[in-house]
Amino acid sequence: MRKVILTGDRPTGRLHVGHYVGSLKRRVELQNSGEYDDIYIMIADAQALTDNADNPEKVRQNIVEVALDYLACGIDPEKTTIFIQSMVPQLTELSFYYMNLVTVSRLQRNPTVKSEIQMRNFEASIPVGFFTYPISQAADITAFKATVVPVGEDQMPMIEQTREIVHKFNQVYGETLVEPQISLPDNKACLRLPGTDGKAKMSKSLGNCIYLADTEEEVRKKIMSMFTDPNHLRVEDPGEVEGNPVFIYLDAFCKDEHFAEFLPEYANLEELKAHYKRGGLGDVKVKKFLNNVMQSELSPIRERRKQWEKDIPAVYDILKKGSEIAEQTAARTLADVRNAMKIDYFSDGALIKEQIEKYK
Ligand code: TRP
Repeated sequence: MRKVILTGDRPTGRLHVGHYVGSLKRRVELQNSGEYDDIYIMIADAQALTDNADNPEKVRQNIVEVALDYLACGIDPEKTTIFIQSMVPQLTELSFYYMNLVTVSRLQRNPTVKSEIQMRNFEASIPVGFFTYPISQAADITAFKATVVPVGEDQMPMIEQTREIVHKFNQVYGETLVEPQISLPDNKACLRLPGTDGKAKMSKSLGNCIYLADTEEEVRKKIMSMFTDPNHLRVEDPGEVEGNPVFIYLDAFCKDEHFAEFLPEYANLEELKAHYKRGGLGDVKVKKFLNNVMQSELSPIRERRKQWEKDIPAVYDILKKGSEIAEQTAARTLADVRNAMKIDYFSDGALIKEQIEKYK
């Protein structure tokens, strides 16, 4: 069986370091592993519209931002097909057929959708399109017969739902679709990077994000004003590393080599944490180190982004070519699906014969 990756993001804003450690970095590693036959990365504009129906301009503006962030991180258009969801209309048709295989109560149990409904104050009136987006996400994944979906941990319920739809489809119509696996980062700190204010999630509306497109100075300022242990008031005080955003970011970003380069008094993060817990280590010193670590990871990304920003027509060209390729793949799967469901009327010779017999 072919090894295929499909993944994507909603274009509702620029991507931040939470996206980066939570999934983007993994996608680039998988891309460069050479182990995959096909890799697709999708800018999910249609899904973004499910809760931004009144603001298509936001989605329109952010398509290129997300594309630039992908290219900046090292997604290589020679190896990966980057495309725009709504440019592949087969995905919509697939969703329509899958809707018959999913119950309302099953959708209501999806924990990610549940919390998104709460966050958006949709409780009283949920748009149907939004409510059903997990089904459309199953169409995205299965249209490419993806075997692996590298996404953030919050997308786990979507992959679970997709697997159920695949199972049900194959059971009802015969073996056609492929069940995907999720791919998450191994490092626990990367799964859910908190905001710079220590809140559970980075989110644009909370203003607690470090963006991949931020300048060196913006990143530095955000790191230097990050929340730490609120009880660690004086340098001498013992500090808490558990739940301390600065140490969570270090868990996510720092490698032993960074100590040799930027903070040679310590061999590794364990030693630094031990000193902080004992007392005698100030927040400013730890933050300066974190800043050095993060700048060394982010500066090549920032530089690559700047290069692509100079050639916006080339970015749109990548998206256009990618969308054409994606459409061809999705069309092949849709043909398989229609064939399995026996609704491919005009290419079904047996159907005509059957009807001729019936009217003899
Ligand atoms: N739900 C994803 C997000 O919130 C975007 C997405 C849409 C996606 N379709 C997908 C991710 C298919 C992986 C596979 O960012």
